[in-house]
Order: sequence, then structure tokens, then C-alpha cells
Amino acid sequence: MEIIITDSPKLVAERSANLIQNLINKNPYPVLGLATGSTPVALYEKLIDLYKNNFLSFKNVTTFNLDEYVGLDPEHLQSYRYFMNEKLFNHLDINIENTHLPDGMKENPLESGPEYESLIKKAGGIDLQVLGIGANSHIGFNEPTSSLGSRTRIKTLTQKTMKDNSRFFKKDEFQPHLAVTMGISTIMESRKIILLATGKNKADAVKNAVEGPVTSVCPASALQWHPNTTVIVDFDAAEKLEYKDYYKFVLLEQDKLIQRFGGNQV
Ligand code: F6R
Repeated sequence: MEIIITDSPKLVAERSANLIQNLINKNPYPVLGLATGSTPVALYEKLIDLYKNNFLSFKNVTTFNLDEYVGLDPEHLQSYRYFMNEKLFNHLDINIENTHLPDGMKENPLESGPEYESLIKKAGGIDLQVLGIGANSHIGFNEPTSSLGSRTRIKTLTQKTMKDNSRFFKKDEFQPHLAVTMGISTIMESRKIILLATGKNKADAVKNAVEGPVTSVCPASALQWHPNTTVIVDFDAAEKLEYKDYYKFVLLEQDKLIQRFGGNQV
């Protein structure tokens, strides 16, 4: 794992936007995995900015989001499809047909997972997956004790996640407790992963994911097995990491190697 500790959430967004920009510029038909939630919003604003200033085009980009609530139609203000359209897709030159989220409205929701898996496979797999992390270390909606071998499927949300996400729902509004989410094994097949975290409320989750044991109780810890994951955090989210100085030293040494021999960051 590569750990990048930045001074601010703004820099987390900039560093991750750079990685996505590299991917899009190098790959004629890039496949991006995306996340919802508060953390990637600054990254999406940065990507829109790059597009509007002609530094980036999304014409040939295909996207797959991690998850979608079961029972919220795409027009629902809290559906992840609505969120993605509003926060990103509507502001880019992306072909909306090439943007995918799991189908949370299927008559038989159990069919959504396998269908989504085939779509990802048909697209050639995910080149770069963006992840946030829950305060309980979930990735996607893979809650603690999710199988590390899981594929896209229905998951029941924990009370903690329901409470954390209740801020997005109006009082007395229906808040789904089921979601269709990429599985941990699905996520692990992405060729590159970037995990973003900002704020003190993520410090324990980041510490457990990066420096704790690999266990299904901390779903993000599975990323320790991924050969190409970059964790980009601000100071607050990095607060509890024990090896902070070492991570900085690694990056300095890496920069020296890149300067001397060149390198591909994605
Ligand atoms: C959303 C998702 C979740 C969020 C996580 C953090 O698509 O996959 O795992 O990334 O709940 O959410 P925020 O960024 O709102 O703290």
C-alpha cells in the first residue's frame, strides 16, 4: 500500500484527480470505478474543473459505481444515481449510457448483483476504483464481517451506517436498509485502487485498514492484499497511523526513483 498524507481535504481531492487524469490521458477507453458519499465530492468538483478548462475529456470513459440503495428509483433525491448525475455526470462530456450503477429497482433484487458483475466483465474490468471508507471501515456497502471473497450482491446495512447516512434523509423519510454493492472480491479485481479519507472521524477506520490485521471485521483491511492501492488522507484522518514518518520517507525515496528512471503513477 502506498500512503499519501496531505495537509487538507482539498489536497486529497487534487492528488486523486491527478491520478484519474493520468489514467484518462494514457488509456484510450478507461473504466473508472466511482463512489458516492461526502468524501469524493471535492474530487468530482476538481474533475469538472479539469474538464471545463479543457484538460480532460470523459467522452471515452466508462464508469461503474460501487453501490445503490434497494428501493430508491433513479429520480429519488437520495438515490446514488441521482447523486452521481448531480455531482458529476451532468457536468461532463461523458456518455450517460456508459455510466453504471447497480440496479436497486429490480423486481427480483437478487438478480442485480450477477448482472452488474457481467457488465463489469464485458467492459474489461475496472482500471481505477475510487473508494471512501465508512467510520466502521466498510468499503462500498461491505459492512464488517462481509466475506472477503464476496461479489456484487444485496447487503443489509448496519445501524451505524444507517445512522451515519441519516443526515442525507429528511426526518420521517424512508431510508433503505438494503443496498446492492460490489463485493470485496469484485473491488479487489480493480487494477488500481485509491482510497480517500478525510476528517478525524475516519482516523480509527484508516488506522485499522492500513495497520491492523486483515479481517472481515475491518473490510477495508482486505486492501492490504491488493498490489496497487494508494491511500490518500488528510492529517486528521491520518492522526492514528503509527508509521506516518515512514510513509513520508517512502514517498520521498519514490520521487527520487521516478526522477531518475521515470515512472508510471497509475
Ligand atoms: C458510497 C460508499 C461508502 C462511502 C463511505 C464513506 O458509495 O461506497 O462506502 O464511501 O460510507 O462515506 P462518506 O464519504 O460520506 O464519509
